[in-house]
Amino acid sequence: MPAADRAGDSEWWCLTVDVLQSVTLPDGTTLDRDEFLGWIWARFGDAGLGGIAEGEVDAAEAAALGLVPSPRVIDAAAAPRDRDWLIDRGVARVTLWFQSAAAAREAAAVLESAAGCSVGIVDRGAAGAADEWRAGFSPIGVPEFGTVRPAWEPGEAGTVAGRTAIYIDPGAGFGTGSHETTRLCLAALAAWADRGGCLGRVLDVGSGSGILAIAAAVRGGARADAVEIDPAVHEAIRANAARNAVASRVSVAAAIPTAAGLHDLVMANIVAEVLLDLADDLCGAVRRDPAGSITGCAILSGLLAADVPRVRAAYAARLGVTPAETSLGDWHCLRFAAGG
Ligand SMILES: C[S@@+](CC[C@H](N)C(=O)[O-])C[C@H]1O[C@@H](n2cnc3c(N)ncnc32)[C@H](O)[C@@H]1O
Repeated sequence: MPAADRAGDSEWWCLTVDVLQSVTLPDGTTLDRDEFLGWIWARFGDAGLGGIAEGEVDAAEAAALGLVPSPRVIDAAAAPRDRDWLIDRGVARVTLWFQSAAAAREAAAVLESAAGCSVGIVDRGAAGAADEWRAGFSPIGVPEFGTVRPAWEPGEAGTVAGRTAIYIDPGAGFGTGSHETTRLCLAALAAWADRGGCLGRVLDVGSGSGILAIAAAVRGGARADAVEIDPAVHEAIRANAARNAVASRVSVAAAIPTAAGLHDLVMANIVAEVLLDLADDLCGAVRRDPAGSITGCAILSGLLAADVPRVRAAYAARLGVTPAETSLGDWHCLRFAAGG
């Protein structure tokens, strides 16, 4: 049963955990924060854990907790899954939502014996807390694309009159549709489709919840390859694909398959350094005509203004076209296609 379905139950208990950048488990294994959150999900997902919410922890509070030596600046940028942006942040506050007090206490006991995290008390979710938890995943409208809805809302995925509805439960992955970078990608995907661009085969690298691969498949894509380096979210991608009735058209992998072949649309919403590292692979995956000119499209996001020039230059040189650029808030998106 997907996590969000469990989150719909009426009684909730929450456990707050402040997590350093790396944590050592009782068996001596050291995990970075990202891996630790994946481990929590894997360890307690079938033991009453219904949701994980990542929040902020105040710098002074972190120092008072003894988690960092002194108050320091902690980046307050907000992303639904902020691990990718806030690499330098010392401490992250994570709230774990459990279906019963017993499940929460059992998890607290396990987590207390790990080094690198500070476990708070088990508390009854405030009245309406489950609704609050859900409210963080309210429907997102992207005018050019359509709507991203929480998986627990009623309704069917589909595209009507060029507007698409998809249903997503992010689980432990990034990608509810609320982040600017995701919305920019969805709008760019719609722009490509609306101008008659082919969605025959789609590659989504850095898939998170699977939102972009699923959006492309529901928009009419024949096959979407979702590539996500974090195996902890692969199950969420599959569940989301099934929820949107495109499971047979969405494949999931941890790396770009070596025989991935050419794609009509390549999307990657990842930080600039990773996009630069992957430039050869991503550009090599874009479909071309026999003369070598691209006939497919590449959409890149996860870029701050300062990142744009070097990413644009790296990809323009390989793809042979000048990108169209869009932005939302602080975030930018580049769409490379013949004809702009
Ligand atoms: C910002 S999230 C984007 C999620 C989703 N595609 C969206 O647009 O909302 C970036 C994702 O890329 C993944 N990632 C980072 N480096 C990667 C790599 N080299 N290959 C595949 N996935 C990667 C991260 O684990 C994370 O889930």
